[in-house]
Amino acid sequence: MKNWHRMLNEGKVKVGVLGLGYVGLPLVREFASAGLRVVGFDVDDKKIRMLNSGRSIIKHIPHSQVREIVNSGHFEATSNMARLKSVDAILICVPTPLTENREPDMQYVVSSTKTIAKYLQKGQLVVLESTTYPGTTSELMTPILETSGFKAGRDFHLAYSPEREDPGNKNFTTKTIPKVVGGTTKKCRDIACALYGKAVVQTVPVSSLEAAEAAKILENVYRCVNIAMVNELKIVFDRMGIDVWEVIAAASTKPFGFNAFYPGPGLGGHCIPIDPFYLTWKARQFGMPTRFIELAGEINTEMPRYVVTRTMDALNERKKSLNGSKVLVLGLAYKKDIDDVRESPSIELIELLREKGARVDYNDPHIPRTHKQRHHDLQMRSKKLSARMIAGYDVVLISTDHSEYDYDWIVANAELVVDTRNATACVRKGRRKIVKA
Ligand SMILES: NC(=O)c1ccc[n+]([C@@H]2O[C@H](COP(=O)([O-])OP(=O)(O)OC[C@H]3O[C@@H](n4cnc5c(N)ncnc54)[C@H](O)[C@@H]3O)[C@@H](O)[C@H]2O)c1
Repeated sequence: MKNWHRMLNEGKVKVGVLGLGYVGLPLVREFASAGLRVVGFDVDDKKIRMLNSGRSIIKHIPHSQVREIVNSGHFEATSNMARLKSVDAILICVPTPLTENREPDMQYVVSSTKTIAKYLQKGQLVVLESTTYPGTTSELMTPILETSGFKAGRDFHLAYSPEREDPGNKNFTTKTIPKVVGGTTKKCRDIACALYGKAVVQTVPVSSLEAAEAAKILENVYRCVNIAMVNELKIVFDRMGIDVWEVIAAASTKPFGFNAFYPGPGLGGHCIPIDPFYLTWKARQFGMPTRFIELAGEINTEMPRYVVTRTMDALNERKKSLNGSKVLVLGLAYKKDIDDVRESPSIELIELLREKGARVDYNDPHIPRTHKQRHHDLQMRSKKLSARMIAGYDVVLISTDHSEYDYDWIVANAELVVDTRNATACVRKGRRKIVKA
């Protein structure tokens, strides 16, 4: 059996990170920078090749950082899963999307757990980091892992510790975000806490796997519901002639009991539009409805349609129809300053605008062209911005408020601007051209 105490004290733990995406790679960086040896595992050979040659696969992790940990010998990536045998801890960061019927799609968790079970060693620590419903680690993973003949909590250690990565957020990194940890047993949890303690500033032990899983879901339901509330208030206040952004700024001056959430063109990303429905699915097994989640989902899902209606109205006031109009969508990423388009409302906006007969282009400094996704295939390339080019559109629709954009310049050159992010708040000239949506 491994002597975890000694291994951790001597810094001799070898960490395996399985799934080298938006969550896995920052985790690799933290453990490797803390001086531990890290092996990254992925099924995507292209990613493996890029990482081993010192190139990053995520915009906000620079190539130099990957090069540094590769050159120092602290990190290597592989698709050879047999090498899972050689690591002490395996941290799983694979996707947890929804199926067509909006139910948890556990195929990546199941397949990676099966792979781990095949190579599982006595004394290893296995931690699931992917966001999921309460019960996943004990009900779904444990039986698969125990096909190895080893028992969780006795022969190997099993824990759940949700990732709280916030891509593009310059105020926090994986290292500075506290990590909630639950284990099959107290010992499993404590070993996991001790390991994470090497790489992050604070660990937060909780009493069970389920408490840790539910904590992550609570965080995301909280955001989803509050965003839906401000989205609804945006529509109500707009009807009353009140600017929701001004109201939120004013309310934010209250020093207690108020956290600001902001409206937008709809929810995006891998987390907020998806994770709450993991709980909805699980709650159904207990005969329980999740009314807040369902209602929030309804409101947030309607947002792109609301934006399109506002765009139609704005054009109508200028005696134009959306059908036949030229629309430039600014920002394809689901939030500012990142290159991730998963679930991005911009994509739905483009599809809805096209359905109405608009001729749509987009610009996004982070996304030169679109790629085929599970449900979408726009086949578009980012158009280069110029004063003349902007002036050629009937409407410029700001969907993502990237910092690179010069909003004064955009408004100065556009005929009409529909702003879904209050990105033009500081623009002084040409305000009559701006419609908030
Ligand atoms: N992206 C975020 O901001 C974020 C934040 C917090 C939590 N999460 C959660 O973290 C998890 C991972 O999300 P992500 O954004 O990093 O996903 P991602 O798609 O960026 O990366 C997942 C990686 O896993 C790999 N993979 C898939 N199946 C595999 C298998 N069987 N074996 C090995 N590798 C496999 C994929 O090739 C991919 O490289 C999800 O549960 C997500 O909800 C994401």
